[in-house]
Amino acid sequence: MTTAPEWQTRVGDVWAAEWRRTDRSFADLSRLLDAAILKVAPASGRAVDLGCGAGVTSLSLASARPHLAIDGYDLSPALIDVARERAAEQEASNVTFDVGAVPAALGDTPRYDLAVSRHGVMFFDDPRSAFAGIRAAMTPGAALVFSCFRAAAENPWAAETIAALGGRLDPPRGYAPGPFAFAERATIVDLLTGAGFGDVSIAAADYRYRAGEGLDAASDGADFYRRIGPVSKVFAAASEADRPALTQRLRAHLATHVQGEVLDFPAAAWIVTARA
Ligand SMILES: C[S@@+](CC[C@H](N)C(=O)[O-])C[C@H]1O[C@@H](n2cnc3c(N)ncnc32)[C@H](O)[C@@H]1O
Repeated sequence: MTTAPEWQTRVGDVWAAEWRRTDRSFADLSRLLDAAILKVAPASGRAVDLGCGAGVTSLSLASARPHLAIDGYDLSPALIDVARERAAEQEASNVTFDVGAVPAALGDTPRYDLAVSRHGVMFFDDPRSAFAGIRAAMTPGAALVFSCFRAAAENPWAAETIAALGGRLDPPRGYAPGPFAFAERATIVDLLTGAGFGDVSIAAADYRYRAGEGLDAASDGADFYRRIGPVSKVFAAASEADRPALTQRLRAHLATHVQGEVLDFPAAAWIVTARA
């Protein structure tokens, strides 16, 4: 579970420092998600990126749809700083990034012709009211497109790695904000239809999660895992004295998955599309 105050501070700060390796891990998924977004993205009007993080989904949409205005919102000031720097570097003039909590930041008049998110919607404390607020901010018929993880058991980059460290990733009982909160199709359908969305389509997206690269891809992966995601929680829970041995076990496990100079794991996501 990762809470809003954690995203605003410690977790958001680490994601901001690690945006390059995070984007690398999701690059193969982004290819699929961006294609799904472009299938329904209008040529003009206004779009919102929900929990935009360091901004990659907004920026790619901004370049593909130069006449569409895009607002990216995220809880983390550090991530918004990175997203703004990237927008300036890319001279993307049709995208703005602001610190703000979804749905409050969106306002309550229907002004968005598209809402997108790469893995940003599984962290709402109250997903029912969040999706109701998102829908209220969308124009009638506007598309919502987001990605989220399927079950932990289908994501060995997390579940198998945690097991190799002696831990377990149990499915949450009921809803708890976190990477696997939307693993069940039924949860997604229930939340979206309950909020008034229609035409809900949920497609499986299998992709390569790139955890490490380079001459020592296992150490690169171990360093990334220690800082970000579900494995980092195992390290946070361990004592200072136990961490070096834990790091060695992690590196040894990851080394068994390295091929040449890359460390890839199979990963499983949903790409969800619905209409307001
Ligand atoms: C897994 S990260 C994904 C970030 C980004 N979309 C990406 O693909 O790199 C989830 C993001 O959602 C943001 N977030 C969570 N709850 C939010 C909320 N209620 N409003 C705005 N952002 C939120 C977090 O701060 C975090 O940056």
